[in-house]
Amino acid sequence: MLARSASMRDRIAMYNGNALKIGLFGANCSSGRSATTVPERWSASWRDCLALARLADAAGLDFMLPIARWKGYGGDTDFHGRSLETITWAVGLLGATKRMTVFGTVHAPLFHPLIAAKEFVTADHIGEGRVGVNIVCGWNEGEFDMFGVTLREHDTRYAYAQEWIDIVKAAWERDGTFDYEGEFLKLNAVRAYPKPYGDSRPLLMNAGSSDAGQAFALRNCDAFFVATAGSRTSLAGSAAKVAEVKAAAQQLGREIEVFTVGQVICRPTQQEADDYYQHVNIENADWGAIDGMLANKSITPQTIPAEEYYAKRRYFAANAVGGYPFVGTPDRVAEELAVISQAGVRGIGLSFVNYLNEVPYFCDEVLPRLARTGVRVKH
Ligand SMILES: Cc1cc2nc3c(=O)[nH]c(=O)nc-3n(C[C@H](O)[C@H](O)[C@H](O)COP(=O)(O)O)c2cc1C
Repeated sequence: MLARSASMRDRIAMYNGNALKIGLFGANCSSGRSATTVPERWSASWRDCLALARLADAAGLDFMLPIARWKGYGGDTDFHGRSLETITWAVGLLGATKRMTVFGTVHAPLFHPLIAAKEFVTADHIGEGRVGVNIVCGWNEGEFDMFGVTLREHDTRYAYAQEWIDIVKAAWERDGTFDYEGEFLKLNAVRAYPKPYGDSRPLLMNAGSSDAGQAFALRNCDAFFVATAGSRTSLAGSAAKVAEVKAAAQQLGREIEVFTVGQVICRPTQQEADDYYQHVNIENADWGAIDGMLANKSITPQTIPAEEYYAKRRYFAANAVGGYPFVGTPDRVAEELAVISQAGVRGIGLSFVNYLNEVPYFCDEVLPRLARTGVRVKH
């Protein structure tokens, strides 16, 4: 007898009725999602992650999404230089929580699919149907060099990931013994037990931004994370992006939910929030780390005109290294989140400069406002 039912519908709903799922993004990596030198930046220590997960679970947040990062980006803080491995991190947090979904993020080219399949089955049993998988194909060459693994040509990464996910799903679903013969992977007499918790499988998500990445998500995943859902505060822009993704999925006879990410700086007054945003993201930006991130995408003052480079660098810092900043009073932050929900976005992974210091205020002030507007159920 299972402790709870875990249908795919239950898993996608994260076992609750919140229209807008709210989670925490990036807490397993030092500095989280804020490339800043401010001393209160996030440590990502296990003790802090555990305290955060317990607090978030009790406050009714829906998920935690880590970042699979193996090497820091340099700069004064060596941004992301300290990171906890995501599957083992997820297992620890699933054991310590009761309600929330916890994702593990896996680089398909670095993990054998049968090992990943079994690790996630184990995590799924520990969390009784609450584990999710973020499949990433890799984009950071320096990181792959460290493993002695060559990053494949861009679209081939997704062709490889297709075989990888087909094997993972087969290991979760197929009874008996099976062989697999692909272009990249050949496996003999595979047997994989137990199957995931309940009569279903872990949630699958992907966040590829290229055409190949989006097509992969549409073919295989339950959730697609987009770094920018149109212009997030403009309802029409977000709604158009969601409609485009959903229509493309329907063409394949599939359904997919659109998620996004953002940074939150929420304070009692707009002035306080604006000042702190400037202080963290701009005045104390870790420019060396930002240069390191851009260099990984081959964006340097040598590859593009200097003026364009400095504009891009500033834009990247101002947009919290790739996530819309929700900056303001609880009223304003709640209003903006309600807007993206009305646009059809199913959920958002939020980051905070210091999650433990700031998430309680967000949960106390913003969540009840979202419940009043019907975007979330009262907790
Ligand atoms: C919400 C979100 C989470 C991501 N998590 C990771 C991660 O943990 N590790 C990683 O190497 N890349 C991560 N990425 C990068 C994507 O997987 C993807 O490689 C990137 O968006 C580039 O898209 P493309 O692969 O389609 O070119 C993430 C992106 C987003 C928007």
